Amino acid sequence: MSSNKTIIVSNRLPLQISIKDNSIEVSPSVGGLATGMKSVHKDGNGLWIGWSGIPEEDINPSLLKKVKGRIEEAKCASVELTKQDIEDYYLGFSNRTLWPLFHYFMEYTEFETKEWEAYKAVNEKFAKVVLEHANDGDTVWVHDYQLLLLPELLKNKKPNLTIGFFLHIPFPSYEIFRTFPWRSEVLTGMLGADLIGFHTYDYERHFLSSIKRILRLDVNFNEISYHDRLIKVDSFPMGIDYDKFHNAALEHNNSETEKSDLQKRLDDHKDPKENKKLVLSIDRMDYTKGIPNRIKAFEYFLDNNPQYQEKVRLVMLAVPSRSNVPQYIKLKRETDELVGRVNGKFATVSWTPIWYFYRSLPFDNLIDLYTSADVALITPVRDGMNLVAKEYVATRTNGDGVLILSEMAGAAKEMNEAILINPNSFDDFSNALKKGLEMPLEEQQSRIKILQKRLRRYDVEKWAHEFLSALEATKELKEVIVAKKMTVADVATIKQNYQKASNRLLLLDYDGTLTGFKDNPQDAKPDEELFSLLDKLQAQKENNLVIISGRDKQTFNKWFKNKPYNLVTDHGVWLRDKGDWTALERLKTDWMDRLLPILETFVDRTPGTFIEKKNYSLAWHYRTADPELAQIRTTELKTVITSMIANNDLSLLEGNKVMEIKSSNVNKGRATNRLVVEEDYDFIMVIGDDWTDEYMFEEAPESSFTIKVGYKKTKAKFQIKSSEQVRDLLVSLT
Ligand code: ADP
Ligand code: G6P
Repeated sequence: MSSNKTIIVSNRLPLQISIKDNSIEVSPSVGGLATGMKSVHKDGNGLWIGWSGIPEEDINPSLLKKVKGRIEEAKCASVELTKQDIEDYYLGFSNRTLWPLFHYFMEYTEFETKEWEAYKAVNEKFAKVVLEHANDGDTVWVHDYQLLLLPELLKNKKPNLTIGFFLHIPFPSYEIFRTFPWRSEVLTGMLGADLIGFHTYDYERHFLSSIKRILRLDVNFNEISYHDRLIKVDSFPMGIDYDKFHNAALEHNNSETEKSDLQKRLDDHKDPKENKKLVLSIDRMDYTKGIPNRIKAFEYFLDNNPQYQEKVRLVMLAVPSRSNVPQYIKLKRETDELVGRVNGKFATVSWTPIWYFYRSLPFDNLIDLYTSADVALITPVRDGMNLVAKEYVATRTNGDGVLILSEMAGAAKEMNEAILINPNSFDDFSNALKKGLEMPLEEQQSRIKILQKRLRRYDVEKWAHEFLSALEATKELKEVIVAKKMTVADVATIKQNYQKASNRLLLLDYDGTLTGFKDNPQDAKPDEELFSLLDKLQAQKENNLVIISGRDKQTFNKWFKNKPYNLVTDHGVWLRDKGDWTALERLKTDWMDRLLPILETFVDRTPGTFIEKKNYSLAWHYRTADPELAQIRTTELKTVITSMIANNDLSLLEGNKVMEIKSSNVNKGRATNRLVVEEDYDFIMVIGDDWTDEYMFEEAPESSFTIKVGYKKTKAKFQIKSSEQVRDLLVSLT
């Protein structure tokens, strides 16, 4: 058994410390993250690192030890935040920038450099505490938008940690995210993780789209290639502690249990014979939860369905949250006023339409509310998941009850049996409420039953387990890379063999191997450093240095005019050997005129792409195009030209951000084959970066040193990171 542990990191610890009259009070934290992860943490042998909820300055030194003790007892460790940190990092950047931006509240979003600086500094503070506790081999699971930079900070310091990141709020679409001044930093911060999780596939999709467009990284299904790492992205819809809520409700319904005062008041209102019903909503007081909108929609409902006046009551629990942020203060004021207005408009001596609580209630009272509500009205305008909706369903032990849920909550994706509404439509709202209040018991039961089945099966424990096993599986991804990653020892072996040899063949691809990519291929000319390196290799008389490329003869002839290196161009059509050009293949080119207009229509419809016309092939380059559009177009292009290429004996090569159509009987493999058999080499090294180079790796004799640049799947024996490393390797040989 390994002694590796799992560390949970989130801004807020599951317990809240407060100090009153010099004594410590501990209460549970609210919010989906804390309540959900609590049950995961409870059973593990791990540690939870986060902020205790009070400013460092407020902890009197005499109490410090006690506070720490209480935190340790709960298997937690705290990160201390000063009042200034709380102002700039927590209330500021986290809750006045990221929270509104990620929830599509652009008008509430502030971009303050000072707060960004504080956000970075506090993420560093978290990193410091985590690193004090984490050992190589441990797993660290980082949570939510307050700590987007933490994964990278940890990975840089301790690459052997396995790091997971889960975002509990939506990831916005690229059009929103691109407005954010620190978009690249935040994305690279997240990419420190080995696995990045979201509640829904839509958030995952948005994230990957930003990764492709902003960082221009390669994404293969849900894997991101980033330097020498592969990062997995997936969706894991968070569940609840189903048994906890279900059992609490069973206990609550037990006739021998004493009723709370709240329950007695709720019972007073309910009367099935008179069709008197309770409608419930529970949220943190947050503008994303659509509270004012809900009140207005309820008013609209009562106006349009007067038969429900004096019958239906909305019990609305709004739990105080982030009450120092101006938008929340405004929301509170607006809610108070609206409740007052609606109650004033409809109330009678025996009935007020809205019962409004602005406070945090103990768990038992939460259960009173859930079990008493005939209908739950959960209507956020935007919500990452929403656990309240799930908790309501779990407490319906008799199988009755109706859930009305906003389509804008992540939970809606998996709760199809709820009545789903667009919360911005009052008609939707009002019709749904009427339908809910009138729904026959059998229909209620059949819907609740299906919902419960799923919630019970995919509970929070299962969710955490799935995330952690997917995280564990990323270790295998790492091993695939590590298996072929060129080590210092491999370099030494290559050098040794190189030195011993008396007749060497060096087959080097050009673009992406000897030099990096440029937006325009004509800009990727050899630089002085490269010439000097190649000159040195050429000067060693044991070497046959061959640059082998898909580039055309003219370009290479121009670039390497005065250089004696041997060249293979056009993917193997032409060979320049000791200065003389010979055609290795005889090819027809009449198909090119027919294909060109087709390719041109693709250029017209795909901004940022262009055609490179070579002697024997046509290449469609899409490096600077929108990556998602390019992906669609490449598929389209393949379909369009499939019949044409079959009839003309052509083939389609997919290179690095380029698709090339050329004669089928030409490829770098055939050229390689000719070269290797020409002489009796005792050292062969082949280096290439893209798909077209795989033909060379295949044809090279078993004893060759085949090297792939980049960490994609390959037939080569070794993999190295970039063209810079290729140059370093070649320098070390000279
Ligand atoms: P968010 O994460 O945006 O706050 P969720 O609906 O996902 O929204 O999570 C809210 C969580 O807070 C639920 O698990 C709910 O049970 C819990 N909660 C709500 N009110 C209270 C309260 N008064 N005391 C403790 N927990 C509460
Ligand atoms: C949401 C967020 C959590 C946060 C919670 C409560 O659930 O996703 O990260 O902890 O709200 O907000 P607070 O600002 O009080 O921590």
